[in-house]
Amino acid sequence: MSVVIELDAAQKHVAEKLNALGARLRDKKSSFLKRFFAAAPANIKGIYIWGSVGRGKTMLMDNFFAKAPDLPKRRIHFHGFMQEVHAARSVHKSDDVIGDIADGILAKTKLLCLDEMQVSDIADAMILGRLFKALLGRGLVIVTTSNQPPDELYKDGLNRQLFLPFVDTLNSSLDVVQLADGPDYRLGRLAAHDTYVAPLGVAADLALDRLWDMLADGEVGKQVALPLMGRKLLVPRAAHSCSRFNFSDLVEKPLAAPDYLAIAANFNTVFIDHVRVLKASERNEAKRFVLMIDTFYDAGTKLIISAAGAPEALYTTGPYKAEFLRTASRLHEMQSQSWWLKGVTH
Ligand SMILES: Nc1ncnc2c1ncn2[C@@H]1O[C@H](COP(=O)(O)OP(=O)(O)OP(=O)(O)O)[C@@H](O)[C@H]1O
Ligand SMILES: [Mg+2]
Repeated sequence: MSVVIELDAAQKHVAEKLNALGARLRDKKSSFLKRFFAAAPANIKGIYIWGSVGRGKTMLMDNFFAKAPDLPKRRIHFHGFMQEVHAARSVHKSDDVIGDIADGILAKTKLLCLDEMQVSDIADAMILGRLFKALLGRGLVIVTTSNQPPDELYKDGLNRQLFLPFVDTLNSSLDVVQLADGPDYRLGRLAAHDTYVAPLGVAADLALDRLWDMLADGEVGKQVALPLMGRKLLVPRAAHSCSRFNFSDLVEKPLAAPDYLAIAANFNTVFIDHVRVLKASERNEAKRFVLMIDTFYDAGTKLIISAAGAPEALYTTGPYKAEFLRTASRLHEMQSQSWWLKGVTH
């Protein structure tokens, strides 16, 4: 399947900024190399691109990186970069470890592209300020992507006041550019795929696994616990704003409205494996199923489901029969391309 990429207006805005940076890097390239070896500040502001998931931040940065002049350049995931920094910290033994690490990076790199800046680790939070100040002060040009603006990084983190100098450095030393809300193009990739697979079986399981790989960018996903009032809701698999549950986890356990709201608030896309036909006697299960789909529908959640049959076949007799007509209709609507291409609401 070939994909034609036409940038939307918000993406064009960011691409222009990146093009201008590319042009500045090219202009300065000859003097740049001299400065590089003299280790003097290059005085070129890098860019901090932030915006919601699937908006094309990584794509735009990678494009820029590929076209950037032939300077010593490097593109790495932010977590990978921080791992290298921590590894270097454990071997450097001088009084100015951070300065030495910055020198080591500068010796090899003039342009550094960092994908997915996200700070949740206190060990990262406590050194980022000094590290970035040293790197930017020595003239490294940094381009980075993030889902948050600098002011919201490490939000509610431990000792956040010690992290604030890093926020200031980002705000003052980089051009902070928002990639405005709009379609989540990652979801658009699914337009040609079925997001409701029936009947159940190996083929359905494989279909959902394949969709998971596409949306979770190859990550298996990890178990997370969402805090709720006085308890926790266990999410068996979570990655990249996607979560994955078994139908039994969601409707056979005593879940209620706050659980479904928490799932919708935390994940754009919810995978539900093995939706089965409910019997008339399964009152609580039917009630939860209706409530769950209503909640996800209201939140604009994207659903990927494997089921025993078509939506209207999942519950045909019982006390919630009338309500379930709405559920079935919503399940149909939630498979439509327009549903999938709607912008995310959070
Ligand atoms: N204008 C577009 N038209 C079609 N596809 C697009 C467009 N923009 C981006 N894409 C595709 O959408 C997918 C998601 O883009 P990308 O990974 O760059 O998003 P992102 O903003 O980095 O998301 P995240 O915050 O989750 O990392 C990619 O496959 C990308 O090629
Ligand atoms: Mg990205």
